[in-house]
Order: sequence, then C-alpha cells, then structure tokens
Amino acid sequence: MTVRVRRFRDGDARKASDMIRKTQREVNSRYYSRSVIERLCKTMTPGKMKEYSEERIFYVAVDGEKIVGTVTLAEDNHIGTLFVHPRYHNMGVGRKLMEKIEEVARKRGVKRMRLSAAVNAVGFYKRIGYKHPRKFKDKCCSTVYKMSKKL
Ligand SMILES: CC(C)(COP(=O)(O)OP(=O)(O)OC[C@H]1O[C@@H](n2cnc3c(N)ncnc32)[C@H](O)[C@@H]1OP(=O)(O)O)[C@@H](O)C(=O)NCCC(=O)NCCS
Repeated sequence: MTVRVRRFRDGDARKASDMIRKTQREVNSRYYSRSVIERLCKTMTPGKMKEYSEERIFYVAVDGEKIVGTVTLAEDNHIGTLFVHPRYHNMGVGRKLMEKIEEVARKRGVKRMRLSAAVNAVGFYKRIGYKHPRKFKDKCCSTVYKMSKKL
C-alpha cells in the first residue's frame, strides 16, 4: 500500500463523497445518533466536495485511483473534513493529511490551527499535538470538542 497526499481534483468529488459517507456510517455512527449521521451524510454530496474545493484548501489521500482520505483548511484557519477510509485506519494516513495541511497553513503565516473534533477523534488529535479540548454543541446540536495547536 502506497498512500500519497495531493490536491483535490474535480474528478474526485464522487469518490470523496462516497468515502466520507461510508466512514460516517461505519465509524462515527458508533458515537453519534443515526439522525445526526444521516443529516451529515446528506450534506456531504459530490457537489459539496466541489464547493469545498472552491472555498477551502482541499487535499486528498490516494492509494492508486482510490480516495482513502480527505482534509480541508478554511479561511479562518479551521481544519475540517478529516476522514480516513475505515480500512486504512491506524496506518498513518490521518497524520499524513494533517501534516500536509499544517505545512500549507504554516507557509501562509498561520500561527494557530483550530478544529472541532468528533468525540471519537479527540485521542487522535491529542496524539498529534492538539490541546485544550472544550466541549461544544455544533450547529447540528451534536457534541464536538474545540481544540487548537500552535504551529
Ligand atoms: C480520526 C482519524 C482521521 C484518524 O486517522 P488514522 O489514519 O486512523 O490515524 P493515524 O494512523 O494517522 O494515527 C496517528 C496516531 O494517532 C493514533 N490514533 C489514531 N486514532 C486514534 C484515536 N481514535 N484515539 C487515540 N489515538 C488514535 C494512532 O495510533 C497513531 O499513533 P502513533 O503516533 O503511536 O503512531 C480516523 O480514525 C477517522 O477517519 N475517523 C472517522 C472520521 C472522524 O471522526 N474524523 C474526524 C472528524 S473531526
């Protein structure tokens, strides 16, 4: 398995959307209610992927032709859309995506990264240096933890 990280291309939209929905349903559904997961899946359309690629910096992890991970960086230095295909968990793909997006942010002069961590992802973010988890109800009324990291 050779996973590399590259910029999102328009042709990735369908595969990225499918991978995110699969991950939400197989992994995040163990921590969030079905209605929350289905609401999130509904928003993560291929069209949304294209929208993100226009509004944010969007990277994907690929294994050959397969999209196995996604991450975005928004204008307000907020990291989002970090998903790794369930079969690729604990192989360093999430770390690779985060390293890339942090490198891009650093070059843009960003001093502090911010994100809203899903309950199940707090341990991962701590492992890669994110701190100060603060419990918060997001706009879908689901629990997330605001975390940040000084670059
Ligand atoms: C969270 C997620 C992106 C992590 O991706 P990953 O590719 O499995 O993570 P990595 O293999 O790069 O892990 C890096 C390190 O964090 C650790 N780690 C990974 N997931 C962890 C978790 N849930 N809790 C604690 N530690 C974790 C790994 O063991 C590894 O440790 P190491 O430094 O000893 O090697 C992935 O589990 C995922 O897609 N989850 C579902 C979607 C999600 O919730 N995304 C976050 C939305 S905010």
